[in-house]
Parts: sequence; C-alpha cells; structure tokens
Amino acid sequence: MSRALQDVVFVDGVRTPFGKAGGALAETRADDLVVAIFRELLRRNPTLPPERIDDVAVAATTQVGDQGMTLGRTASLLAGLPQSVPGYAIDRMCAGAMTAVTTLSSGIMAGAYDVVLAGGVESMSRHPMGDGMDPNPRFLSERLVDTDALVMGATAENLHDRYPTLTKDRADAFAAASQSKTAHAYAEGWIQPDLVPIATRSAELGWGLLTADEAMRPETTLDGLAGLKTPFRPHGRVTAGNASGLNDGATAALLASQTAADEFGLAARMRMVGFAFAGVEPEFMGVGPVPSTEKALARAGLSIEDIDLFEVNEAFAVQVLAFLEHFGIPDDDPRVNPMGGAIAVGHPLASSGIRLMTYLARDFARTPSARYGITTMCIGLGMGGTVIWENLQHDGSAAHDRRGA
Ligand SMILES: CC(C)(COP(=O)(O)OP(=O)(O)OC[C@H]1O[C@@H](n2cnc3c(N)ncnc32)[C@H](O)[C@@H]1OP(=O)(O)O)[C@@H](O)C(=O)NCCC(=O)NCCS
Repeated sequence: MSRALQDVVFVDGVRTPFGKAGGALAETRADDLVVAIFRELLRRNPTLPPERIDDVAVAATTQVGDQGMTLGRTASLLAGLPQSVPGYAIDRMCAGAMTAVTTLSSGIMAGAYDVVLAGGVESMSRHPMGDGMDPNPRFLSERLVDTDALVMGATAENLHDRYPTLTKDRADAFAAASQSKTAHAYAEGWIQPDLVPIATRSAELGWGLLTADEAMRPETTLDGLAGLKTPFRPHGRVTAGNASGLNDGATAALLASQTAADEFGLAARMRMVGFAFAGVEPEFMGVGPVPSTEKALARAGLSIEDIDLFEVNEAFAVQVLAFLEHFGIPDDDPRVNPMGGAIAVGHPLASSGIRLMTYLARDFARTPSARYGITTMCIGLGMGGTVIWENLQHDGSAAHDRRGA
C-alpha cells in the first residue's frame, strides 16, 4: 500500500507562567501543571473530539516522583482525556518538549497519527538540576567528556574563551534587551493570550494565582548587570543576569495533520518544514544550534537568508551570540526573539522548546510578511535542535526579498 507523507501543522500552544525556583509554583506538583495546560488546550479547541487525540508525549529532564510514571499517560488521565488516548514520556534535557513535538510529528508525517498533544515540564524547585544524576565514571576516567560538560554555566564560560569577540559587554547588552523586549511584549499584551493562570499554594503565604512570569526583571540596566558575580568561574563572564535562571513551568502544544486540522475546523498557524538535531563537543554545548540549524536548512533546501524570524532559546546570552555571529546576524537584529526570551521569562528545562514555538506562532501572526521561521536551542551534553516552520498566516509578500537578500 502506498501512502503519502502528511503535512504537520501547529494548531495551538499554551504554557503556565514560569515561576522562580523556590517561588510561587514551588509547592505545586509538576504533573498538575501539565494537567492545567492540557485542559486549557482542549477548552480553546472545542471542535476537537478528545478521543481523536492519537498520542500524547510529555518531556521532563528528571523523571522521578511527580515528573515520573510516564508523564504523557498520567497527565492525560488526570486531565480527563479518554482512557483510550495513550501517552508516554520523553527526555532530551532542555530540548524535551521540542523532541516531543518532532517525534510525534514524525508519526503524523508517516500517517500513524492525525492529532497529537506534546508537552514539557520542569519543576526545578522540586527537582533541582542534576538531582539524582549518576554519570558513568568512564565519562571522566576515559576523558570521554571534559569535567565542564556537566555544568552548563561552565560550558558557557568556555564559549566566551573560544570566541573572544563574544565579550561580557555584548552578553550583558543582549540580556538587558531580552528583559526590555519582554516588558514591551507584556505591555502590548502579546504574551498573555497563551498563558494559563495557575492557582498556587504556599504553606507560608496561603493561596494565590500566578498570572505572569515571576522572574522578569524589567528594571534591568547595563550598570546593574556589570557588577554581578560570576558563579561559574572567578573573574568569569557568565552571571545570573546574562543566563537563564532556575524555574518551574510547563508548556503544551496541539499538532495535527493538515487533513485532520481541516476535518476538525482547527486553525493551522504554522507548518513544520523540517527539523534536525546535531551533536557538538559536550563542553561547548551552547554552540549546538549552529550545526542543527545548518542541517535542518540543508535538508529543507533553504538557506539562512530565507528565515524571517528566529526564536533562539536563551540558556545563556553568549550561546545565542555564538549562533548569531556564525550566521552573520547582528546581536540586536529585530527578527531575533522579538518578545525577549529565557533570560527574562526563565527556562524550565524540558518545557522551553514549546515556549519557543508558541512565541513563533505569535511572531508570525504579527508579521504576516514573514514566511519561514526557526525555533532552535542548545541541549546539555553537547547537542542542538532546530525546527523550521512556515507561516500559515503569511500574506504572500516576501520579507526577505524586501530586505534585499
Ligand atoms: C546563574 C545562576 C547560578 C544564578 O543563580 P542565583 O544566584 O540563585 O540567582 P539570583 O536570582 O539569586 O541572582 C543572583 C544575584 O544577581 C542579581 N541579579 C539577577 N539578575 C539580575 C538582573 N537582571 N539585574 C540586576 N541584578 C540581577 C540578583 O538580584 C542576585 O543579587 P544578590 O546576590 O544581591 O541577591 C542560576 O540562575 C543558574 O544556574 N542558571 C543557569 C541555569 C542552567 O544552567 N540552565 C540550563 C541551561 S543549558
């Protein structure tokens, strides 16, 4: 039997506001965060019969306790999805949610699924980074990786070493811009439509409601950033101000074949053009998005000049700068992270990939002349992931032609 490849479309994405580790969401179970956003996705897309969801994949980096037990299945049952809907858990550290999307999408392309739910969650309050980690001693005894490879901030310092033109001043300027772009996006109401307010509880403070990202610092100044400590190396360049923080949060997305989206009357906002993952030296993990983007572009038959919008995860400012410098894109290019990024709103590890996609869908809506966009991120132990998307809210004009590319 011959089968045609199916087009995958991104229908909708939502997230919790991201909390600060130890903050508003610290006493909320990670699986409950996923339940809240799954229910919201179903509420926002009432024409989709829940029993037509073919599979559910949810990512977390530390898969124990409330992040264990095959999250895709447990969260689906807890969210009231029919028992007939299966689910599973997925892990590629920071690119967990991105991998949930690409893995499920491959199933759609192959004709195994019509509609899927992807998600990612990390409670860094309840599961601190590296908790329970037991790296094989051979990694170090046989020098398979450098000791820095297991400390993400140390890998970022290594990037400053490798690319001396990527100075701390440039990293701080990029970080300050992330904060101000985020503040601007909030003021314009661009971020709030995809946030699901979360009821919070605290033994000390009682009940509350988290409606916005908790770690934002809109008052950030270059002077304030200049004086911060460098926790990963004495006299280093990576600080709490030019790095993403430690956060709690969850994201989820609804994807479908174009045919199923049409059948259920779901508005398709982006089409997946292609994706790629790539490996680099683990102690320079932040440069991972360079080869993954080159690979994804080559496979799609596109070049970097074809890309009108970029959502690059801001694990560390220096790592975004390494990406931009490689592709000859200015640090302050308005096509890059127009609503700010993880330095301002936070990076609850496995959840961030879908935040990037949700942002890109909004960027596309505000920029109908944009045709292609990418979501890309670096990944622990030396990897990068890139997904290329086509704007289905495109107005037919070519933004890159107008730029003279
Ligand atoms: C960098 C890191 C160690 C900082 O942790 P922390 O010390 O708990 O961070 P804090 O929020 O307390 O900030 C430290 C200080 O910087 C200050 N600060 C942070 N951001 C600031 C900003 N934008 N402007 C001014 N000051 C700022 C804080 O006020 C605090 O000051 P204080 O010491 O006087 O109280 C931590 O966020 C981290 O590990 N980040 C990387 C996470 C990571 O590796 N993720 C995976 C990526 S692959």
